[in-house]
Amino acid sequence: MNKPTILTKTTAYVKQTLENEGSGHDWWHIHRVLQNARLIGKTEKVDMFVVELAALLHDIADWKMHDGDQEIGAKTARKWLKSLDVDTETIDHVYEIIATSSYKGAHVTDHMSTREGEVVQDADRLDAIGTIGIARAFTYGGHKGSPIYDPTTPPAMHTTAEAYYNGRTHTINHFYEKLLLLKDLMKTQTAKKLARARHAYMEKFLKQFYKEWEGEA
Ligand code: ADP
Ligand code: NI
Repeated sequence: MNKPTILTKTTAYVKQTLENEGSGHDWWHIHRVLQNARLIGKTEKVDMFVVELAALLHDIADWKMHDGDQEIGAKTARKWLKSLDVDTETIDHVYEIIATSSYKGAHVTDHMSTREGEVVQDADRLDAIGTIGIARAFTYGGHKGSPIYDPTTPPAMHTTAEAYYNGRTHTINHFYEKLLLLKDLMKTQTAKKLARARHAYMEKFLKQFYKEWEGEA
């Protein structure tokens, strides 16, 4: 099978699988991450076939919804790519990107071992900030039954992935525990630049949010 056919088939598979996902990992998230990845990848020396496959498949199965198997997404992607007879090197590379790219807490080191991985991770993280990031955070919070805000519970800077994943908090804290930290974690020039404007928008949102909370605006 040639590369364009593999990409077309993978797109259809992902679309069908994630069409009705309600926690913020729906098909349109994948669509945006793919667009981001293509844009970022333009100025990077990367294998765009690997980048596009990893972007398409990165949320194919979320362990948070699958009994805590943290590699379920990567495993599901491998199975799919094997069924299309994709070469082993590409499958292993896509597997590694999906298995390692998640955010794991403010003080947990995150490291991608290839530039392709960095492009996909930046692309995914761009979709977690800015106006879309705000919308997704409250969608995820609602899905989990979290309150929008509680001024008596301050954010936590997690030092382990377990603490981050188990932390139950209100959605405004998520901005401090993850979203506002992403700007400085971007690895590529294109993503760094886009992240600055999206970050500024979130700061503006929070400023107005606190004013309205106190009835000052
Ligand atoms: P990633 O794909 O980087 O692993 P997640 O799957 O953890 O991200 O999150 C998907 C979306 O939901 C992101 O936009 C993320 O910021 C948001 N999100 C994750 N955890 C929370 C939370 N505790 N409260 C609100 N939003 C969250
Ligand atoms: Ni994602």
